[in-house]
Amino acid sequence: MRKLTVMLLLAAVVLVPGRSAAQKWEGLADTPQMGWNSWNKFGQNISEQLIREQADAMVAEGLVDAGYIYLNMDDCWHGERDADGFVQPDPKTFPSGIEALADYVHSKGMKLGIYSDAGRRTCAGRTGSFGHEYQDALQYARWGIDYLKYDWCATENINPRGAYTLMRDALRAAGRPIFFSMCEWGTNKPWEWAAEVGHSWRTTGDITARFAGNPRQRGWGQTVLSIIDQNAPLRKYAGPGHWNDPDMLEVGNGMSVNEDRAHFSMWCMMAAPLILGNDLSKMTDDTRAIILNKKVIAIDQDKLGVQGLRYKTENDIEYWFKPLEGGDWAFCLLNRGTEPAELNINWQDLNLTDEEVSGLSTQFDAITYNIENLWEFNAKKAKVGNTKKALKVTVPGHDVAMYRLTPNKK
Ligand code: GLA
Repeated sequence: MRKLTVMLLLAAVVLVPGRSAAQKWEGLADTPQMGWNSWNKFGQNISEQLIREQADAMVAEGLVDAGYIYLNMDDCWHGERDADGFVQPDPKTFPSGIEALADYVHSKGMKLGIYSDAGRRTCAGRTGSFGHEYQDALQYARWGIDYLKYDWCATENINPRGAYTLMRDALRAAGRPIFFSMCEWGTNKPWEWAAEVGHSWRTTGDITARFAGNPRQRGWGQTVLSIIDQNAPLRKYAGPGHWNDPDMLEVGNGMSVNEDRAHFSMWCMMAAPLILGNDLSKMTDDTRAIILNKKVIAIDQDKLGVQGLRYKTENDIEYWFKPLEGGDWAFCLLNRGTEPAELNINWQDLNLTDEEVSGLSTQFDAITYNIENLWEFNAKKAKVGNTKKALKVTVPGHDVAMYRLTPNKK
């Protein structure tokens, strides 16, 4: 009898969903995640004071209202493990502890993200999670963490799918919904296997604040254009709950305003996570106008969740389309060159069907769309006619022209 009870109890632990930890947390990534991360601007120099300052700026600048809800610490928050093996924050830079920081961030209406690595050490040499996955997940959950970026340095020869699945299960078992952002740089083609594992996966090496030119050696020091080229062909793998992640934003970190605008627009066209990487406490008006453009953000966050497609390339100009909810389309002209391009867009030349993902067609021959210029802030001027007439536009070098097309219902 007692044996039977024990067996039943064991079966319950293994079979009851949530206890069995055999799936990722659902419902956390219906649209691509939005927030801020410390790495691109501050690198290894982070502290609880910095994170609090950025949290204050997130609210004051209206970024939280615009949807940027995750505030993510990247590498170097860590100290060592305590005698029981629980990881601790760096006592010099995070003296008040992570739980207090999470309380502060939550009190501001945001969520707090943390960073670890599947190896023994992180990329900057701090404490990694290898061999402590369940313990770390438990620690994060106790602290009130909402997001984990999980890196791939110092992983020796461990199996990537196994390592990421192990942490997914650990997060699930810890009982607190935590967004799982996989960061193995596309090395093991995560798009082929990770839809069940993570909420997003990096598709490339690290971004830098450079628009064009040769990426630096071995995949590091990517540019905006080199990343677009690697991420574009992966569109069929992205969708609600599981997104391609072409790395964090460099808007406000030194590129020209045109380049920043193009970078931000293209990340939205590609339904990419929008994780800001600049100092939010010191922003120019240009940076503000870009990252707070709600109409462009809405393209990224569209509920249909389709990553945009590069329809054609003519000289330096790329023609991008993204099908949206309710029959709308986003249309973006990307100028990869440095010279302005004068274009005459004849819509009848752009009849297309997105056979690969959504099955939707533009049908310019049958449907007339009203055209809205998403980078024109004057509401009247932003309405630039409809698709019965060709559209004349000049796209500056390293810039975009971006539009929302809405079927004219009349
Ligand atoms: C890797 C990641 C970066 C960043 C650093 C931190 O390079 O790809 O995004 O997290 O590690 O050391």
